[in-house]
Amino acid sequence: MGRFLVTGGAGFIGSNFVHYLIRTTEHHVTVLDKLSYAANPASLAGLPTSRFELVVGDISDPGIVDQLVRSADVVVHYAAESHNDNSLFDPAPFLQSNIIGTYTLLEAARRHGTRFHHISTDEVYGDLALEDPARFTEATAYNPSSPYSATKAGSDLLVRAWVRSFGVAATISNCSNNYGPFQHVEKFIPRQITNVIDGIRPMLYGAGNNVRDWIHADDHSRAVLSIIERGRIGETYLIGANGERSNKDVVELILKQMGLPADSYDLVPDRPGHDLRYGIDSTKLRNELGWAPEYADFEAGLDATITWYREHEAWWRPQKAGTEARYMAQNNTSKKAPRTTP
Ligand code: NAD
Ligand code: DAU
Repeated sequence: MGRFLVTGGAGFIGSNFVHYLIRTTEHHVTVLDKLSYAANPASLAGLPTSRFELVVGDISDPGIVDQLVRSADVVVHYAAESHNDNSLFDPAPFLQSNIIGTYTLLEAARRHGTRFHHISTDEVYGDLALEDPARFTEATAYNPSSPYSATKAGSDLLVRAWVRSFGVAATISNCSNNYGPFQHVEKFIPRQITNVIDGIRPMLYGAGNNVRDWIHADDHSRAVLSIIERGRIGETYLIGANGERSNKDVVELILKQMGLPADSYDLVPDRPGHDLRYGIDSTKLRNELGWAPEYADFEAGLDATITWYREHEAWWRPQKAGTEARYMAQNNTSKKAPRTTP
């Protein structure tokens, strides 16, 4: 049994990982999370107090970080500002949390010799052309597009430097777009599902042709645990489930599964610098660690996610109006009042 420190564990993927750890292992879990707008402590409700605690604090606060890293066997670092649209509006918090926060954790891991796993994103590699058969591999050059992905790329490079220069026992994983329960309603899939529930037409940026490579959050969690248990120190592993879909396809599926005509969406002005396509080649993870996704059927996983949002309105409702107001203020919507579904 080990002591896990999970940063950002009150956010989407971190909370799914905490549930996964509690469900499938006997480890003790401490979450360090500052409870930003993106967090929802309700995602951690009901976990056994004998094995779980939530510490509210900032990963760029050296005092609290030192204390928690010192008493952990492994740090799993999820905490970050995670939303591209926000980073285009105000990059400052992204630099603070994603760069300074990661630096603060790495310094503590260096002082205390603590095993460190850094959670990152495929966006550090930039984007691929729509019709290109190529996919990202661990050898792809870094080429981030947005302030968010640039800060994630910077944090990955800090981890690599701390491994090489200071011998920190770290691994890195770069995963594609996650879906599943507990995802904030600012993100694409929950935003569209909850819009449909509210009678608002889904909104597609640009022509809706951009492609994302979808993976269920549970498959991500299993991959992360296998890297912590069996991955080689200093290595990077890409995590992806062969889930490439255009945004238009995803919205049409959501509409169909929610009983509406597949074309009841609106095209809205595009995201500046919008990455065209992400696609992950996860051969290294599969061959070295024997990982394979369990949610091979995206449509079934999406259907279960729609059901989850229908059944957990109390979880997302408090964040919905504020999120849409923020989108209006950021001018990312169609500049007119959202249209209602027929
Ligand atoms: P999220 O926005 O849902 O959650 C982030 C959490 O981190 C929140 O609970 C927030 O309060 C916390 N946090 C932010 N700054 C903090 C700070 N300074 N101190 C303490 N806590 C802080 O994000 P997510 O979608 O769950 O992403 C988690 C991680 O996974 C991020 O590192 C992200 O880059 C990475 N990632 C996300 C995806 C995806 O599809 N969402 C894919 C690949 C990688
Ligand atoms: O690839 C991994 C990344 O996936 C993570 O690193 C990020 O933290 C995570 O937010 C996600 O980034 P994206 O920018 O791909 O996710 P988002 O949910 O914001 O958007 C997904 C796609 O949908 C993207 O092409 C933009 C588009 N979109 C998004 C919203 C919110 C729309 O068309 N309409 C929308 O309303």
